[in-house]
Amino acid sequence: MNGDDIKIEIQHLTMAYGSYEVMRDINARVRRGSVFVIMGGSGTGKSTLLRHMIGLQCPAQGDILYDGQSFWGMDNEGRQAQLRKCGVLFQSGALWSSMTLAENVALPLSEHTELPATEIAEIVRLKLALVGLTGFEEFYPAEISGGMNKRAGLARAMALDPEILFFDEPSAGLDPISSRNLDQLILELRDSLGATVVVVTHELQSIFTIADDSVFLDAETRTMRAHGNPKELLEHSSDPAVRSFLTRGAESASKASV
Ligand SMILES: Nc1ncnc2c1ncn2[C@@H]1O[C@H](COP(=O)(O)OP(=O)(O)O)[C@@H](O)[C@H]1O
Ligand SMILES: [Mg+2]
Repeated sequence: MNGDDIKIEIQHLTMAYGSYEVMRDINARVRRGSVFVIMGGSGTGKSTLLRHMIGLQCPAQGDILYDGQSFWGMDNEGRQAQLRKCGVLFQSGALWSSMTLAENVALPLSEHTELPATEIAEIVRLKLALVGLTGFEEFYPAEISGGMNKRAGLARAMALDPEILFFDEPSAGLDPISSRNLDQLILELRDSLGATVVVVTHELQSIFTIADDSVFLDAETRTMRAHGNPKELLEHSSDPAVRSFLTRGAESASKASV
């Protein structure tokens, strides 16, 4: 891998809450324009890792590099400048309930740019169109489905044309069809905008659909236990923890089909 191809590098990262060490010595590289999945069981530290990547939590040890530059070595101003190039969709995906979808998407634009209102309105229209919500600009979050709320949250995360998009469990709380649609949308964003996408998920169907590369966090060893393309891990890994995570539910399904 050429250094220019690497958008994000996680180096010897140890994460802790006070004296409680969640995960130690995580190392991974995220290629520019790829979808990178952080996977693992519940409580393994997936969201905690994401929080380290978006500046909400400081490493106990190690660092994260963006375009080869130390993120945690920068001052707060430098980190804020980096974060303006990132869009985040949190697990809750919460939009402001008192604002219309258009107002929600306009918020980051009016906060972080000097653009005139007419231009902001045009960008909002485009972003909502990109996620399939044309015609819903004036709706309030309570008036639309969970899947549509997630897509509106994604439009808001993309308002400032981020180079990197972060998602925490994007399909949580969605029905299977909305969840598959969101997976397709993530792939479209990678392909049409060349965005680098980092997704936290434990959902196998999403993992196998969207991931170019992944890291598997393991509660037992408190570190990353595998990394690579999940389909290749499933094919080649002999680690029982990795295999059992990637084949959850498959055994009973195949027994049922015999
Ligand atoms: N604010 C916090 N203070 C202390 N411990 C926390 C906090 N948030 C999460 N944890 C603990 O850190 C571990 C990892 O949590 P988390 O990153 O949320 O896991 P995941 O997203 O993989 O489900 C869990 O054991 C959790 O209980
Ligand atoms: Mg989580």
